Amino acid sequence: MKTRTTIGILGIGAIGTVISYHLQRNSQHELYYFSRTKKSHLNLIIENTPIEIPVGIQTKISTKKTLDWLIICLKEHQYLEAKHWFSMLITSKTQIVIIRNGLHLKTPLLDFTSGNKILECLIDCPTQLSKTGFYQCPNMPILTVAESALGMYFKSLFNTTNININQVKDFKTESWKKLCESATLGAILCLHNDTCRIFKTKQLQDQYRNLMNESLQVARADGAIIESNFVEKMLAKLMHYPETKGSSMLADLRNKKPIELGAKNGMISLLGKYYNLDTPINDLIIRKLS
Ligand SMILES: NC(=O)c1ccc[n+]([C@@H]2O[C@H](COP(=O)([O-])OP(=O)(O)OC[C@H]3O[C@@H](n4cnc5c(N)ncnc54)[C@H](OP(=O)(O)O)[C@@H]3O)[C@@H](O)[C@H]2O)c1
Repeated sequence: MKTRTTIGILGIGAIGTVISYHLQRNSQHELYYFSRTKKSHLNLIIENTPIEIPVGIQTKISTKKTLDWLIICLKEHQYLEAKHWFSMLITSKTQIVIIRNGLHLKTPLLDFTSGNKILECLIDCPTQLSKTGFYQCPNMPILTVAESALGMYFKSLFNTTNININQVKDFKTESWKKLCESATLGAILCLHNDTCRIFKTKQLQDQYRNLMNESLQVARADGAIIESNFVEKMLAKLMHYPETKGSSMLADLRNKKPIELGAKNGMISLLGKYYNLDTPINDLIIRKLS
């Protein structure tokens, strides 16, 4: 008899809910949910349809658990407080996926396992909590991992007609592109506490260009291979966004939650210092938004 794959999902917020939804569609998995706050259901809206799936979320754990996979869906600033989970949920057998945008995603886990057991994963899946308590996820999630055996195995956990798992040769470049895009958009929207409608003016388009160029300098110094017309491509993409589009940083600011400044503009500024590059705009943003 085929044994079921045991998968733990840590952090059942926006992304944890979306990932759990896609995993629970495969009956071969035995899923375990861990988070800070108890919820009785995964509530999400997919293709305009509200879906409620009963779940048993554990908010405490007293005995070590052996899992085949642990999928971590936390924000960077939540890792420190979540440390106790890592020692209880990771054994030498556990393969770990870290889903979050940014750089050096493995670092907080290296005290608990070896780097070759960890798969870093970027996600493109704008998901926000609606007033009715359902996570709205309007697009098909796109997950990006490095081309590897672990990446292949991770992909095989999903029914990929509903979720896109993209394997890339140059994960560092992809991570930097995503970081520059989300740090630029998120920071400017937070500074103005407004949505993408602000980018109609040339002044704000120039602000976007300047911040993005400053960040790209650091990205290239760190070895990312980014095309010369990247900023203009991102600006063209921005012009097609609905006026009401926000960002996860803006949503956190408006919900009075900590924003992911350290993982985004903070990381760019830190690496700028490492490469001896000035990052005055990112530094100013950190001062203003901290
Ligand atoms: N949301 C998006 O649209 C989006 C898009 C692309 C990428 N991302 C990235 O995905 C990552 C996850 O973001 P998210 O939006 O899913 O965050 P989120 O909604 O805040 O979810 C994080 C979850 O982790 C839980 N948590 C926090 N501290 C914990 C602890 N000490 N122990 C156990 N559980 C804990 C939170 O519990 P509570 O319920 O108590 O807060 C919450 O349920 C971030 O890096 C983000 O940048 C998000």
